[in-house]
Amino acid sequence: MACYLRKCLWVTLAASSIFIISQFWLMRIYEGYEIPFEDIKVPVILWWTPFTGNQGRLEHCGQVKCYFTQNRTFVSHNFLSSILFYGSNIEFDELPLPRRGSIDWGLLHEESPRNIPMLTSETALALFNHSATFSRFSDVPLTLVDLDSEEDLIGTKYFVPLEEKSKLIREKGLAPLLYIQSDCNTASMRDSYVKELMEYISIDSYGACLNNKKLPERLRLDHVSSLRDSEFLSLTAQYKFTLAFENAVCDDYITEKLWRPLMVGSIPVYYGSQSFKDWLPNKNSAISVRDFAGPKELANFLLLLTTDESRYSEYISHKISRNLNERITNPRLRNALSNREKDVPNEFGNYVRSFECLVCQRSFDKLEKRNSYIVNKVHYNCPLPVNPLTNTVDKSNFWVDEFIIGRCKAKLLAQLVLRNISIDRQSFDEQLSTFDPERDC
Ligand SMILES: *[C@@H]1O[C@H](CO)[C@@H](O)[C@H](O)[C@H]1NC(C)=O
Ligand SMILES: *[C@@H]1O[C@H](CO)[C@@H](O)[C@H](O)[C@H]1NC(C)=O
Ligand SMILES: *[C@@H]1O[C@H](CO)[C@@H](O)[C@H](O)[C@H]1NC(C)=O
Repeated sequence: MACYLRKCLWVTLAASSIFIISQFWLMRIYEGYEIPFEDIKVPVILWWTPFTGNQGRLEHCGQVKCYFTQNRTFVSHNFLSSILFYGSNIEFDELPLPRRGSIDWGLLHEESPRNIPMLTSETALALFNHSATFSRFSDVPLTLVDLDSEEDLIGTKYFVPLEEKSKLIREKGLAPLLYIQSDCNTASMRDSYVKELMEYISIDSYGACLNNKKLPERLRLDHVSSLRDSEFLSLTAQYKFTLAFENAVCDDYITEKLWRPLMVGSIPVYYGSQSFKDWLPNKNSAISVRDFAGPKELANFLLLLTTDESRYSEYISHKISRNLNERITNPRLRNALSNREKDVPNEFGNYVRSFECLVCQRSFDKLEKRNSYIVNKVHYNCPLPVNPLTNTVDKSNFWVDEFIIGRCKAKLLAQLVLRNISIDRQSFDEQLSTFDPERDC
């Protein structure tokens, strides 16, 4: 069709602006909804391990938008940018291989390597480009995931005053220490330490491990979901001290085991990441197992505190300090808690969204080839476990082998990814058995 220059220009301009506006409206209409495969023109971010549990959705992340889905059909989408994994659910025999060079992988994992010992290997970590883990050096650190707000720490809803705790010990025969654990064979070997501690100080142990006391019926039935239950918190609150031993020792791996006793005003006796002290409400809010030569020395100190009211009180100033503003004096903790988004009901969901948006924003960087990102050890650092009684690697600990086999698995997996080969579990295990852990991993 012939047309004069000026007119042509107008027609073209009009046509293209109609196109742009309609694209804009199309994307507007779809916001937060599923979009037909072929209509998606923004970076696609695929959750490979079903995790977020929702439909595909278009989301704003600051100035940019991405489409998030967990529908694996999208692995072939032209706009696919990143694939995200939830650590515990990664299956070696169904990875999205071959991995196209431009597709990044992201790892979200708030747990210790218990479900995936392979992650203790840097070779495994380097398969990923983005991370959200408990480490403060990960791209979206999950450190305070078990804490909602300052109120959790300073509130006195469950708090039992010291005289009453002492009365419970005298009159109800309660032990000064609480232990409650159902996973008894852990990388941290916590039970071997607690068992010895029991020889020097009395401990009420309600869980399956080292059990010597019965949980109330209702809590027994539903142990896991009752951890934040009010009856459970009330039980914890009665104790002067609560043993808070993580199942594994990794840098910055700090869980609800520390927070729960702090929330109710029972002093945590903590074993886990050394860095837990960075997050305490006050300098003295918990007792570190590592500060003592052994269980006997620790027990002596705890016995001392049970009889010294004013020293005991120093450890619960987040509950009893008269000036509310002085209940939490740790600026790092205050900052982290006050920077929370207020109306997000579920703290973990909030972190998931931050991670998704980080990956989305980085997809746009990637188009301009601005940066390269590879996950390394500081994003998830879990050294070979040691025996807490001797501080040395203990070959009788089943988990030492698991971590070493994890390194072998990581090595094999990295080779497969590099060679674009996806294999079934049986062949994976067959190839794995050709490795000599001592020499090869
Ligand atoms: C996955 O996406 C494809 C393409 O849009 C669609 O045909 C299919 O129904 C989706 N599957 C599920 C389970 O939603
Ligand atoms: C792996 O597969 C991708 C995509 O199919 C291809 O671009 C790449 O060259 C392959 N690499 C090897 C080593 O075969
Ligand atoms: C993502 O990680 C892979 C594997 O380490 C690496 O080859 C690739 O260059 C990384 N991509 C970016 C954008 O950094």
